[in-house]
Amino acid sequence: MNTAPLQGIKVIDFTEVQSGPSCTQLLAWLGADVIKIERPGVGDATRKELQFDPNLPSYYFLQLNSDKKSLTLDAKTPDGKAILTKLIQSADIFIENLHPGAMDKLGFSWDVVHKLNPKCIYGTIKGFPVSSKYADLKAYEPIAQVTAAAASTTGWYEGDYNVPTQSGAALGDSNTGMHLTIGILAALVQREKTGEGCYVYQSMHNACLNLCRIKTRDQLTLDKIGYLTQFPQYPDGKFGDCVPRSGNIEGGGVLGWTYKCKPAGDMDSEIDANNYVYIILQRGAKDFELFCQATGFTDWLTNPDFNTADARDRNKQAIYKRIGEWTADKTKFEVTDILGKAGVPVGPVLSTKEMMSDESLYDGNTLVRINQGGEIGEFVTVGVPFTMSNFQPTYGPAPTLGGNTEEVLKAYGYTPDQIAEFAKNGTTAPVEAPAAPKA
Ligand SMILES: CC(C)(COP(=O)(O)OP(=O)(O)OC[C@H]1O[C@@H](n2cnc3c(N)ncnc32)[C@H](O)[C@@H]1OP(=O)(O)O)[C@@H](O)C(=O)NCCC(=O)NCCS
Repeated sequence: MNTAPLQGIKVIDFTEVQSGPSCTQLLAWLGADVIKIERPGVGDATRKELQFDPNLPSYYFLQLNSDKKSLTLDAKTPDGKAILTKLIQSADIFIENLHPGAMDKLGFSWDVVHKLNPKCIYGTIKGFPVSSKYADLKAYEPIAQVTAAAASTTGWYEGDYNVPTQSGAALGDSNTGMHLTIGILAALVQREKTGEGCYVYQSMHNACLNLCRIKTRDQLTLDKIGYLTQFPQYPDGKFGDCVPRSGNIEGGGVLGWTYKCKPAGDMDSEIDANNYVYIILQRGAKDFELFCQATGFTDWLTNPDFNTADARDRNKQAIYKRIGEWTADKTKFEVTDILGKAGVPVGPVLSTKEMMSDESLYDGNTLVRINQGGEIGEFVTVGVPFTMSNFQPTYGPAPTLGGNTEEVLKAYGYTPDQIAEFAKNGTTAPVEAPAAPKA
């Protein structure tokens, strides 16, 4: 049994860049029939962003648009509007992420789409919640990170590098797409009961904020007592009015930190500076004992400066120093081995290269190889991030710009003559510039 959960679900994908396409990418891999609308001659902006070859689509585009169909359509022409209307009338889901107000201007707002097809679910991504004073702003990834308190709480907390810092993870982009997917799937289940599609509004701000909830927890605590015991600033440093940057603390009540190791060679060099390991000291006495036995720090078991979790919070700088000395002559893999076997939470800091070279991750979902064919051949991407006991996704190539235009229009009942006319009048292909007059 390998039934795709979204088999038979038709999605009209009016999204581009990363946030929207990451949502429709997941829907496609779960079996939905995704038709991606792209501007004739232009297409999704990412096709030509960060290319490895000026004549080929970028990995950015390929990684977000596999298994979709590409229909080039100018939704500003009368024919384009008529075609889009027809597509919407038989769609289960319509998703867009244009700048605020653009869809209304094109004539395909939620109200319009809901009248055209009451069963259709309408997903939309914008930078900010409707109530926000920034609701009309255009937004990209860092805008979401800086306004949702992700950047102000990330990075180093002292010295020259004490600046708000972006996470390498796409908290504003792919994370927003994943959040919208949750909303869309909830709307599909809801439609089973009501028979009616609903409007799912997902802001990048909300998606990012949802991952920053522990920072709001810390703000509440700081407001009450004026300090945060898990932070490196405690007990000797100063706290201001808001949650500060915290370097590499774990974030919860346990004592976590990154420790420098000896480079392991191969892909772990001084140049890349990823020769670090993350170690966590849990709060429980039994867990702490496991750590002390594994490292030989058994004197800590009877020392009142270290043998309780509260004492360790107060003396974390001494702990960082001693553990750092212990890890310095070992590689991150050796430390992981020693502490992992002892039952201590530990993990090596891995580079993209090290992670992508781990064959055990090519398990059908975690990392996947897609054969795009042609000059591109095989490329690697991140697959469906969960596994289902009765469904294994398959991963196919991304479409060429407008590669499915004829096929899609035919399937919607357009005749070859009509299809040829749409290409000529600028609806599905760029209008050819008139030939320059002869000198
Ligand atoms: C990403 C963003 C900043 C880009 O803004 P932008 O450069 O103005 O690009 P957009 O794609 O939104 O729109 C450009 C124009 O193309 C038009 N357009 C896009 N696809 C079209 C199509 N198939 N047919 C006709 N017109 C189309 C839009 O209607 C818009 O026209 P307008 O300026 O006359 O209103 C903006 O879309 C945005 O803020 N989106 C919401 C948040 C988001 O998802 N951000 C991206 C995170 S990866």
